Amino acid sequence: MARPNQILLAVVLTTYLIDLIPAEAQGGCGGFSRTCTNVTIDDRGRLRAACEDVNNDYAVAEINLNYYVGEEDGVLVPNSSDFVPVCPRKSVRKPDHHVRTAYVLEAECTTSAYLLKTTTLAIDYWISNNDGRLIWNSCY
Ligand SMILES: *[C@@H]1O[C@H](CO)[C@@H](O)[C@H](O)[C@H]1NC(C)=O
Ligand SMILES: *[C@@H]1O[C@H](CO)[C@@H](O)[C@H](O)[C@H]1NC(C)=O
Repeated sequence: MARPNQILLAVVLTTYLIDLIPAEAQGGCGGFSRTCTNVTIDDRGRLRAACEDVNNDYAVAEINLNYYVGEEDGVLVPNSSDFVPVCPRKSVRKPDHHVRTAYVLEAECTTSAYLLKTTTLAIDYWISNNDGRLIWNSCY
């Protein structure tokens, strides 16, 4: 059994070490798929997920992708905006439903010739889980 002062030391050391972890490791540069699950997107482009926080609890997190994803001639464009009005059908999924792969955004969008085109965007490069909150990053 650990004595109370050993437990206290462990807590203090853990807190100190977490402060030393660079921002990337805390989720500053994409990779939300590693620590978030049950990811969905609604008709208005709001992505919701259950994301782990620093205490390993799951929090419901949300990010509106319409502010961060655009569209050009039917193709999704990252770090842009307003894809929702042009892309009526959208979903977030893992390729082949494999648990260890990253989530992708798939959308069917209208091209300039009024045809429907389905494309995917690797949103895992852009979305980070920062202590249970989803953020769009500008690391790339
Ligand atoms: C994910 O969804 C499943 C099925 O609804 C549920 O049982 C599970 O608790 C959810 N996971 C989290 C972390 O919320
Ligand atoms: C993404 O957008 C942000 C904010 O407009 C910008 O600072 C950043 O340089 C952009 N990144 C890329 C790769 O375009």
